[in-house]
Amino acid sequence: MKDKKTVLLCITGGIAAYKMANVASGLAQRGFDVHVIMTEHAAEFITPLTMETLTHNRCYTKMFDGVFDQEVRHIALAKAADLILISPATANVIAKLAHGIADDMLTTTVLAAGCEKLIAPAMNTAMLHNPVTQDNIETLKRYCYTIIRPATGHLACGDSGEGKMPEPAELIDHVEQHLAFEKDLAGKKILVTAGPTQEAMDPVRYITNHSSGKMGYAIAKIAARRGADVTLVTGPVALEPLRFVHTIPVVSAADMMTVVSDAAPRMDIIIKAAAVADYRPQYAADQKMKKTDEELFISLERTTDILAYLGAHRREGQFLCGFSMETQDMLENSRKKLESKNLDMICANNVKEEGAGFAVDTNVLTLITKDTERALPCMSKEEAASEILSEILKRIG
Ligand SMILES: Cc1cc2nc3c(=O)[nH]c(=O)nc-3n(C[C@H](O)[C@H](O)[C@H](O)COP(=O)(O)O)c2cc1C
Repeated sequence: MKDKKTVLLCITGGIAAYKMANVASGLAQRGFDVHVIMTEHAAEFITPLTMETLTHNRCYTKMFDGVFDQEVRHIALAKAADLILISPATANVIAKLAHGIADDMLTTTVLAAGCEKLIAPAMNTAMLHNPVTQDNIETLKRYCYTIIRPATGHLACGDSGEGKMPEPAELIDHVEQHLAFEKDLAGKKILVTAGPTQEAMDPVRYITNHSSGKMGYAIAKIAARRGADVTLVTGPVALEPLRFVHTIPVVSAADMMTVVSDAAPRMDIIIKAAAVADYRPQYAADQKMKKTDEELFISLERTTDILAYLGAHRREGQFLCGFSMETQDMLENSRKKLESKNLDMICANNVKEEGAGFAVDTNVLTLITKDTERALPCMSKEEAASEILSEILKRIG
């Protein structure tokens, strides 16, 4: 079995073709075996040599170039591909693919391929909105192509509107979503909470904590990559929004509680990675009566314990996982929480340990269940997320 997944990049004659060098390079750096086919018009915008240098594979433009290399090239490429990304896709190539026209190397290879196909239409807004292009795109949907929606913004022709090719990072994200992981969480509904919450003291100040949201976002991202249907309830964070995840932003613990308690009964797995602010002033921020700071601080009350609520209202067969951040007696304190909050698993970490905790990209976790304890070495939060999800999957099957 080959150890690398093969991505076939099909580049057509749109101005955004020049950006595909970054896509090819990004995919090669992520360990994909990248092959490129261009239409002859695409080669007016970017050279095959650029793509060959970045992918270490030959780039094809011609159906007939007089060279025979032991196999029928378009069939061999079509068979080798685990996924095809056609980007930028011109109106012309979209029309040809919608109607089974195979009059060059690119369209012939795509027609011969049985793998999953993603297509990113990119063109002037009027060309995109032309009913014939829209009909062709609908036809491609019927033929099971996944359409990557064009972005809106400044277009090379000087117009502004819908029709831009999405940025390389988004295209790479689409490929990774389809190919990077086995879909062992397909069919599972997962709720993840992430980030801090904020409790307003007045219109200017709030109580919060140092949570960056990175651990929860890593779990949501990897769960989606592994095929789960993910809902992410997130407090205010400075992280890039995740694609392929249904994200619900909240601010306070009460907001988070409302959303989580509503969604929880539908979930197979709930992972609470949010660090909810423990206290809030009893006086709501919008109350007219002005309070002194002393009055505000005296009025502090504990916020709702969302994890304890979820443990108390857990439905049959639902898996509940929490996090525990300790500064001392980590294992003992975490075990107590596991039991008192009726959890299936708790991910314990010592915030004082190097490589663990809030703002960093790594974590050092111990995964604790009723009768097991597994200490993980320092690893990236995405790797840690994958370990957590695998442990859960082992237990729910
Ligand atoms: C400067 C320039 C930019 C172009 N950009 C686009 C584009 O973004 N999208 C598109 O559908 N066609 C674009 N075209 C038109 C295509 O290149 C033309 O339709 C060509 O026949 C497409 O060939 P292909 O689909 O085989 O690559 C552009 C043409 C020129 C000259």
